[in-house]
Amino acid sequence: MKLWGGRFETGPSEVFERFSGSLHFDKRLIEADIRGSQAFARALERVGILTADERQQLVEAFDALLAESREPAFYEGADDEDVHTLVIRKLKAKVAGLADKIHTGRSRNEQVSLDIRLWLRDQIDITRELLAALMQAMLKLARQYPDAVIPGYTHLRRAQAVLWPHYLLAYFEMFARDYERFTQARARVNVLPLGSGALAGSGFPFDREAIAKDLGFDSITRNSMDVSGDRDFALDFMYAASTAMMHLSRISEDWILYSSEEFRWLELGDGVTSGSSLMPQKKNPDSLELIRGKCGRVFGSFTSLFVTMKGLPMTYNRDMQEDKEPIFEAADQLAGSLEMMQVVVESATLRPEIPAAAAEDSWVVATDLAEALARNGTPFHKAHQIAGRLVLESVRAGKKPSDWTAEELVAFAPEFTAEMAKLFVPTEGMKTRVVPGGTSPKSVASALDQADVRLAQMLGK
Ligand code: ARG
Repeated sequence: MKLWGGRFETGPSEVFERFSGSLHFDKRLIEADIRGSQAFARALERVGILTADERQQLVEAFDALLAESREPAFYEGADDEDVHTLVIRKLKAKVAGLADKIHTGRSRNEQVSLDIRLWLRDQIDITRELLAALMQAMLKLARQYPDAVIPGYTHLRRAQAVLWPHYLLAYFEMFARDYERFTQARARVNVLPLGSGALAGSGFPFDREAIAKDLGFDSITRNSMDVSGDRDFALDFMYAASTAMMHLSRISEDWILYSSEEFRWLELGDGVTSGSSLMPQKKNPDSLELIRGKCGRVFGSFTSLFVTMKGLPMTYNRDMQEDKEPIFEAADQLAGSLEMMQVVVESATLRPEIPAAAAEDSWVVATDLAEALARNGTPFHKAHQIAGRLVLESVRAGKKPSDWTAEELVAFAPEFTAEMAKLFVPTEGMKTRVVPGGTSPKSVASALDQADVRLAQMLGK
């Protein structure tokens, strides 16, 4: 069965059918397709194309199809062009000639936009829940070690001491922005395209606002040509997905390092690591490596649709059928990665003494000393110079910060005071970083409290 056979003398070639068919992937849209068609049947009744009785027959037949479509048998032997064709063929088997009315004043061009929007709307809600659950796990891990000190890095060189919760909150912020991006993407997804026809607007006077309300859309699209040619809403989703994957990939990279024998800060649970078939001692962070690896697939999906859309003439072109697989791929890989990361976070334990020692044994306090000098009136460039010389001297003599006494410090440069020797302990300097967003214990405690409140909002509590 074709939805467009009349104009053709012969049917499509076997190769073309195989090449152009999309049912094997767009069947994931079936629930959206059916619910959309039920709403459309109600719209057809309102414009007088269907009687109330016909509408009811159709809606009930669609309900039955929806239930049947959950069984694999539903698709057995189906060789329809796409999911929309399949649904209409199955509808015909149920209500015969009445099925011929369901596509009145409707095009697959708007139908496919509708279906993807309905599907994405649900998927965005699932994604936001997964993000919030991950953030919750991160806050829990932060509160487990409220005072743990780690060296923060730039260039992967020890830079300044920060609190462990401060480090985790940095990722919390990234995931919170991801959450926001999905919320924004949802707003652009949640617009009703139906009523646009193939490209020029439907020839039937549909109450589009009523259809929008029926399907839970916030508003209606404003231009029928735009509807046929637009996939921005899907790209918004995929950009948000790519950015979230980028964040997941970066925390994965951190934790692969931090759980290595070189760092030894973190212990990942047995449940999220695997061994080697040859080397009995190995405990490999495969879960994190896979998250990092899947990031490439999501970026690839985003790029794929982005490039597909570039250069398409207005309005719909069949190229656009290539949208679905990347959308599903990005959504699936992101959902899987978020779920995995949450379990990794829940499995992780910190050995606080190891990063604390790493901070103490290095010169992460150098900035604290330079700033103390500047606070005492030494111009900062000079203070920087003095602290730099102190580090150089220590490196030469093989001295750690804790090897210095107050007397030696004062003797090193007259700008130093005995008081400043307390800054050799990283936690002292940290106390000065009281600005909002800084790593002082006070700032971090309040950031944690605020994070709890923000998360509760995301979780709808
Ligand atoms: N399977 C098609 C797609 O996903 C549906 C729209 C078909 N429209 C058309 N004019 N051939 O793009």
